[in-house]
Amino acid sequence: MKTEIKSVVILVAVEDEALPLIEFLGLKENTAILHPKLPMRCFQGTHNSLALSVVLSGKDERHHVDYIGSEAAAIMAYEAVTKLNPDVMISAGTAGGFAEQGADIGTVYLSDEYYVYHDRHVPIPGYHESAIGLYRAPNVKALATKLGVSTGIVSTGSSLKKSADDIMTINSHSAVAKEMEAAAEAWIGQLFSVPLIAVKSITNLVDHDNASEEEFIKNLSYASERLTEVLIQLIDTLPEFCVEDLAR
Ligand code: ADE
Repeated sequence: MKTEIKSVVILVAVEDEALPLIEFLGLKENTAILHPKLPMRCFQGTHNSLALSVVLSGKDERHHVDYIGSEAAAIMAYEAVTKLNPDVMISAGTAGGFAEQGADIGTVYLSDEYYVYHDRHVPIPGYHESAIGLYRAPNVKALATKLGVSTGIVSTGSSLKKSADDIMTINSHSAVAKEMEAAAEAWIGQLFSVPLIAVKSITNLVDHDNASEEEFIKNLSYASERLTEVLIQLIDTLPEFCVEDLAR
């Protein structure tokens, strides 16, 4: 059976990373679709034949910042699958990368193999494997070749600041992107059988001496432009594929 890709939801935690795409696609906010108590926001429209929604995690009004991290990401993905019924979800955003793996500022990766958490330490058999996630990532090899972007394992944690322990775990998986949402969204994707592709643009090089948070702020705008370029190519290309093409 072939399931055409007709409906796509793009999940974004940091509003500044999504605004160029929302503007380019002319998406309009739908305030009636997500749970009214939640901070998440939904922007919708069509692009070629595709029904598109961009869901933002929303603001922590106490501190005037976006909700980043896996808790908001899981709720956002749950709202997306249950209210919007997408064929495919995309986890879009920025990430820390690794010069040793060939990354530069603005390098964009598609997720490959599996999603893993790098800061969950539960040394009890079974709980360990469950805690670190290891959620299957879709097979994006053909898609990545068409887009001319690299692929790799995406690793999720709760900190932007780097730590030696996190880096050691990330390196043990040879992951290419260190970010804060994808594994949580992939868990929801796996529960509801909706493939989740992560598209991550590098704002900072974790294996360089600079503080990740300073490089993140400095490069956010450029990395978001690169992210937007690849996302536009991706949504132009996705309808050439069916859901089964992404299966592992
Ligand atoms: N997002 C962008 N850069 C990041 C980093 N170094 N760690 C976690 N999340 C990030």
